[in-house]
Amino acid sequence: MKVLVVGGAGYIGSHMVKMLLNANHQVITLDNLSSGHRDAVIGGVFVEGDLADNDCLYRVFEEHKPDAVMHFASFIQVGESVRKPDIYYRNNVTNTLNLLDIMLKFNVKKFIFSSTAAVFGEPDYVPIDEAHPNRPLNPYGRSKLMIEHVLADYAKAFDLRSVCLRYFNAAGADPEGQLGERHDPETHLIPLILQAASGRRENIQVFGRDYDTPDGTCIRDYIHIVDLCSAHLAALDYLVNGGESDRFNLGNGSGFSVQEVLDAVQKVSGKQVKVIDGPRRDGDPARLVADAKRARSVLNWKPVFTDLETIVKHAWQWEIKCLDRASKVSA
Ligand SMILES: NC(=O)c1ccc[n+]([C@@H]2O[C@H](COP(=O)([O-])OP(=O)(O)OC[C@H]3O[C@@H](n4cnc5c(N)ncnc54)[C@H](O)[C@@H]3O)[C@@H](O)[C@H]2O)c1
Repeated sequence: MKVLVVGGAGYIGSHMVKMLLNANHQVITLDNLSSGHRDAVIGGVFVEGDLADNDCLYRVFEEHKPDAVMHFASFIQVGESVRKPDIYYRNNVTNTLNLLDIMLKFNVKKFIFSSTAAVFGEPDYVPIDEAHPNRPLNPYGRSKLMIEHVLADYAKAFDLRSVCLRYFNAAGADPEGQLGERHDPETHLIPLILQAASGRRENIQVFGRDYDTPDGTCIRDYIHIVDLCSAHLAALDYLVNGGESDRFNLGNGSGFSVQEVLDAVQKVSGKQVKVIDGPRRDGDPARLVADAKRARSVLNWKPVFTDLETIVKHAWQWEIKCLDRASKVSA
């Protein structure tokens, strides 16, 4: 198939491009490189362009005629979305509507959307299944939920079929060491702790040790990037085989505490990490863990890298590579 990967130069999108190419799909990546990296797109066609640019979208669809679209492009920082909701709604909502418009114009009706656990807000129960109420706590989560609603309406009105995948925490890196996480600023726990282990960062802050969890630190669900991408391939098959529009939670199913992640990093890296304990942060629930049973049964998705040590090992391999690259640049 010809798959258009929007945001394919970013962390998750770049791993997806690699997996699609390995599965013999033709890939067109569209990315404005606002947070992505050109060298992370390892093959296929690359178009530098912005979702806000309707002429560019038109040209991409006219020239490449994709059969399906995977949409990873958005702004992703929760804190920033509170301070600058305007740019979040514009990029995550308005620009996604542009993309859907052009898909309808070219009769492309298979869409896979990067949604998020942030559509749930403070959980009533864990693990969180798809029936859990949606009460996002910030503009980022609300922008994603808006698109979920748009997609449900477009399925009914226009027969545009979509799969929304609500990722919990994407983590890890390409097991072959070719790709990894390169956010700037980095806000995700595992790369932050790895940077503290490698010396690229002085310390790591732990926000709260008095939660109602076995070791007192927050528990989160980390899903390996390869498993996350394989769920997209499964979702593509599902749509190709006539599957109806649907939403799935994607996680590991077992959460890990901040302390467990710290321990795993120190074990894998052999380095001691300097930890600074701070107070709890507003809006940080004790546990956020996905119930991903529906993705397993309906999409026939089979995650393989579910243990924390493997996730950390692959991410550490990437961190070492980033460190080498940085030292070569400064030499
Ligand atoms: N990383 C996670 O743990 C996580 C968790 C839940 C959901 N998600 C969602 O997954 C998706 C990918 O996340 P990521 O971590 O890979 O982020 P990322 O920032 O690494 O990748 C996003 C990519 O989209 C591109 N982009 C942004 N706006 C664009 C525009 N208007 N036009 C063209 N390209 C544009 C960026 O340049 C970047 O390459 C996002 O939609 C995010 O909300 C990520």
